[in-house]
Amino acid sequence: MYITAKTLENRIISPGFGRFLLSAPQIAEQAGPGQFVMMKFWQGTVPFLMRPFSLNTVDPAAGTLSILYKIVGTGTQILADLPAGSEVEVLGPLGTGFPLSEKMQRIAVIGRGVGAAPMRLLAERARHFGIDVHAYISADQDAHLFDKDAYLEAGCAFTGCTDPDVNVTSFFADDLTRMKFDAAYVCGSRRLMRDVSALMDQYGFEGYVSLEAHMACGIGACKGCTVPVRTADGTEAYARVCKDGPVFPVKRIV
Ligand SMILES: Cc1cc2nc3c(=O)[nH]c(=O)nc-3n(C[C@H](O)[C@H](O)[C@H](O)COP(=O)(O)OP(=O)(O)OC[C@H]3O[C@@H](n4cnc5c(N)ncnc54)[C@H](O)[C@@H]3O)c2cc1C
Ligand code: FES
Repeated sequence: MYITAKTLENRIISPGFGRFLLSAPQIAEQAGPGQFVMMKFWQGTVPFLMRPFSLNTVDPAAGTLSILYKIVGTGTQILADLPAGSEVEVLGPLGTGFPLSEKMQRIAVIGRGVGAAPMRLLAERARHFGIDVHAYISADQDAHLFDKDAYLEAGCAFTGCTDPDVNVTSFFADDLTRMKFDAAYVCGSRRLMRDVSALMDQYGFEGYVSLEAHMACGIGACKGCTVPVRTADGTEAYARVCKDGPVFPVKRIV
């Protein structure tokens, strides 16, 4: 759905990074982890296209959703400058999110920096089902382990890694030798996805990845966001990140 929503809060949490809280009850009611919204928060046609953002938190009772963002260009700079009370055009919830089953007992959520934004909502929904959640998050510095407190408050085990010489997936690999995981979810880095894919071969859990791509429409119409994927019979085809994804089974990624 396409709505005009009100900005409740917008603050810089570390130089170059911000959190944005929006009142959008109609979207919050329906949104699931791994889905995203397209947003336009400027007047006129510059920038021309809406911008995609993952849902970092969703509170259906309060009718709110939040975005964790990194300032990288014109659109995100306008976003960072937006005062509370501003109106924002929002299209969503969009895309195919993370599959999560109440039958799962233990999952891993793995991400890097702001790329791990959708993992917090996934972890919180999984904790709601009573699933044991282990978060493995890497960043270039402690200040960029953005949702650490939220994971801990939700009762997740949290491993943060800021050492450039250590792969955060090595901690997951250690835990796999001691405990069984039903699924691992990964976001924010192709390297993390490759590591998880190799561990899936060894330990036999389900694996899902959330991809990013440049998006023009966000609803599957323009085909500007396609990526090559493997189909069930092993052949290659193209899938739209915005509609068929952004979440895909790891083993489908070419
Ligand atoms: C499904 C999805 C979820 C996303 N979730 C988040 C999020 O939670 N938080 C967040 O900070 N960002 C997220 N992004 C990325 C975000 O959409 C872009 O950073 C934003 O659109 C940049 O807009 P801009 O006008 O500031 O930058 P532009 O001026 O448009 O671009 C600045 C630079 O960023 C690069 N860039 C822009 N968009 C993308 C993209 N989609 N993929 C790769 N490189 C890009 C450009 O090539 C350019 O080098 C997400 C993207 C997708 C597709
Ligand atoms: S952005 Fe248009 S089809 Fe995906």
